[in-house]
Amino acid sequence: MTVRLVQAGLRYKPEVLEMLSQIPEEDSAFLRGYGRISKVTIVGFLQRLYNSALGLYLEEGMVPTTTYWVYDGSKLVGIGRLRHELNEDLEKAGGNCGYYVRPECRGKGYASEILTALKDEAKRKGMKKILLTARYDNFASIEVIMKNGGVEDEPNGDVLRFWIDLNEAEETKNDALG
Ligand SMILES: CC(C)(COP(=O)(O)OP(=O)(O)OC[C@H]1O[C@@H](n2cnc3c(N)ncnc32)[C@H](O)[C@@H]1OP(=O)(O)O)[C@@H](O)C(=O)NCCC(=O)NCCS
Repeated sequence: MTVRLVQAGLRYKPEVLEMLSQIPEEDSAFLRGYGRISKVTIVGFLQRLYNSALGLYLEEGMVPTTTYWVYDGSKLVGIGRLRHELNEDLEKAGGNCGYYVRPECRGKGYASEILTALKDEAKRKGMKKILLTARYDNFASIEVIMKNGGVEDEPNGDVLRFWIDLNEAEETKNDALG
């Protein structure tokens, strides 16, 4: 399985609307309070993602963020997010990366692949290390972070915090190649 990250653009894609409109209530934090996405609200939502990747018109407390639609072949399986920088709040919870996998696609290793691909994107943007956070009871996410080389830092209450050193990841990969 190889996932493909496609940066969210302004062009309307029916499969994206289908996925966004099906995000379960318990995972809706991923939409940042935008509510259920419909054919009407998706236009503004995509515009906001597009601006955010360019660091334009950021709301108070927001940092530039690139959002990616994640495909396996032609099937849209999830979402990846890369925040280009951290602020005080994100240092405590949120970190640099977020990922969402559609419920019917979970448990197949997609999130682990998405984080691996996000690390490559972060490196391309010149980032040296990234912060990942997960609630202590989000076992799947913690597993995904550990598999991707996360090193635990001080927790913030219920939130576990991990750093991934992107240079180290590169060195390890080269070592593996001999
Ligand atoms: C967290 C999430 C992204 C995981 O997606 P996924 O594609 O199912 O994850 P993967 O298949 O790559 O890996 C999950 C790993 O966690 C393990 N896992 C899953 N549930 C677990 C549990 N309850 N206890 C321990 N391990 C668990 C899986 O066995 C797997 O490990 P393995 O590859 O060694 O078998 C998905 O559940 C999701 O989208 N949740 C909502 C959004 C979210 O919480 N995002 C993360 C915070 S930004």
